Amino acid sequence: MDAIRIHGGVPLNGEIEISGAKNAALPLMAACLLSEEPLVLSNVPALADIKTMGRLLEQHGASIETTEDGHTVTLYARKISSTEAPYDLVRKMRASVLVLGPLVAREGRARVSLPGGCAIGTRPVDLHLKALESLGAEIELTGGYVEARLPSGQKRLMGSHFTFPMVTVGGTENLLMAACLADGETVIENAAREPEITDLATCLIAMGAKISGLGSGTLTVQGVDRLHAASHSVVPDRIETGTYALAAAITRGTLKLTNTRADILDSVLDAMRQTGADVMIEDDSITVSAASGLKGVDVMTEPYPGFPTDMQAQWMALMTTADGAAMVTETIFENRFMHVPELGRFGADVNVHGASAIVRGKANLSGAPVMATDLRASVSLVLTGLASKGKTIVNRVYHLDRGYERLEEKLAACGARIERIQGV
Ligand code: UD1
Repeated sequence: MDAIRIHGGVPLNGEIEISGAKNAALPLMAACLLSEEPLVLSNVPALADIKTMGRLLEQHGASIETTEDGHTVTLYARKISSTEAPYDLVRKMRASVLVLGPLVAREGRARVSLPGGCAIGTRPVDLHLKALESLGAEIELTGGYVEARLPSGQKRLMGSHFTFPMVTVGGTENLLMAACLADGETVIENAAREPEITDLATCLIAMGAKISGLGSGTLTVQGVDRLHAASHSVVPDRIETGTYALAAAITRGTLKLTNTRADILDSVLDAMRQTGADVMIEDDSITVSAASGLKGVDVMTEPYPGFPTDMQAQWMALMTTADGAAMVTETIFENRFMHVPELGRFGADVNVHGASAIVRGKANLSGAPVMATDLRASVSLVLTGLASKGKTIVNRVYHLDRGYERLEEKLAACGARIERIQGV
C-alpha cells in the first residue's frame, strides 16, 4: 500500500486549480442509466471512485469513453444488459446505491447489493427505499440485496408526495432521478439542498426532465416519457476547495484557488474569516492567506447551507494550531471522530464529549506516523502534517485517491515537501 511522506512546517504559496466535484460526478454518471442516448460530462475529476462507478455502469450495459486526462466522460446506456449491482462493486463505494432509482425507473426492476456500514457510521439506505416505495416500487431485502420492482402489470413508477424525515443527499438524488421517468407529478419535501443536488437537477433538465424548486427544500418533478442526450459540466468541488483553503491557513501561507465557486462554500469561508484568515473572492477564484495568531472558532456540521460534515476533520486540524479553544460538533454522522486519536499523535490536544470535540490549539505540533480511516480523515492528517515540524508518514492513502485528484502534485507545486512512497 502507498503512503505519503511530508516534511512539514513550510508555508504554502501559489495557485491550485480545483477539480470537478466527486459527489456531483457520481450521481451524474448514474443518471446516464435514465436515457437511451449519450450523456457527456466534462470537468469530471480523475479519481478512483469515478473509475469504480464507471465499472458498475459498464456492468449494467453502458459504454463509457473517457478522454486521456480523465476529465470528459461519455456515458451511453443504449440498452440495459443487467439490472443487478453486485456486492463486489457496491462494497467498494457506497454511492453505487445511486443506480437503484434510475434502474427501477427505466427497467421496472433492480437488484442492488446493500452497501453496508462504513467507517464513519452505520449509514443505512432505509430512506432511499421508502422514497422509491412512495413511487410504487415494491421492495424486498433478501440475501444482502435490495430487490425493487414495479407491481405486475404496471409499466411505470407513479408520481408521489414524499417528505424525507431527515435530510439525505443520496436519498434525494435517488428519488429525484426515479421521479423524472415516473407517471405524473412528484413533490419531494425536505429535499437536500446541497449544490451537488442542484447540479444533478440542472443536468437532468438538460436531458429533458421537468424539475422546479432547484436549490430549495422542495423539488417538484413532472414525469416525462423519456430523457435524451445532453452535455453537462460538473460543478467545482467545494470540499476540495475548502480543504486547500485550510491548507493555506494551517501553514500560514497564501493560496489562490482557481476554477471554483465561493458561493457554494459560504459557511466555511465565514468560519475562516472569523479565525482572522484573509479570504478574497474574485470571479472564479478564492485567495486565502493567514499569518500567525489564528483564533479558535466553533463549528457545527449541518446539512447545506450549514458547515459541511465533509470539512469537519480538516477544520479540526486547523483548530489544533489556533490560539485558544474551539468546539467542533458533528450532527450528521455518529462516528466521525476517527481522526482524533491520530491527531493526538502530532501532539494535538483534542477531547471528545459525545458529538462534540474540544480542541485546544497549540503552537508546536510535531510530525508523526499516522493512519487514515476514511477520505476526509486522511486529508486532515495531511493538513496537520503540513503544519507540523519534522516528518509525517500518512499510511493507507488509497482513501485520498478516492477523493483528491493529484493531491501531492497540487500541494508540491505550492512549496509543500510531500511525496508518495510506493508499496509500503
Ligand atoms: C453524501 C456524500 C458524503 C457526505 C454526506 C453528507 C456523496 C457521494 N456522499 O453521502 O460525502 O458526507 O452526503 O453531506 O455525495 N441516512 C439514513 N437513512 C438513509 C440515508 C441516510 O438514516 O436512507 C442518514 C445517514 O446515516 C446520515 C445522514 O442520513 O446520518 C446523512 O446521510 P446522507 O446525506 O444520505 O449521506 P450520503 O448521501 O451517503
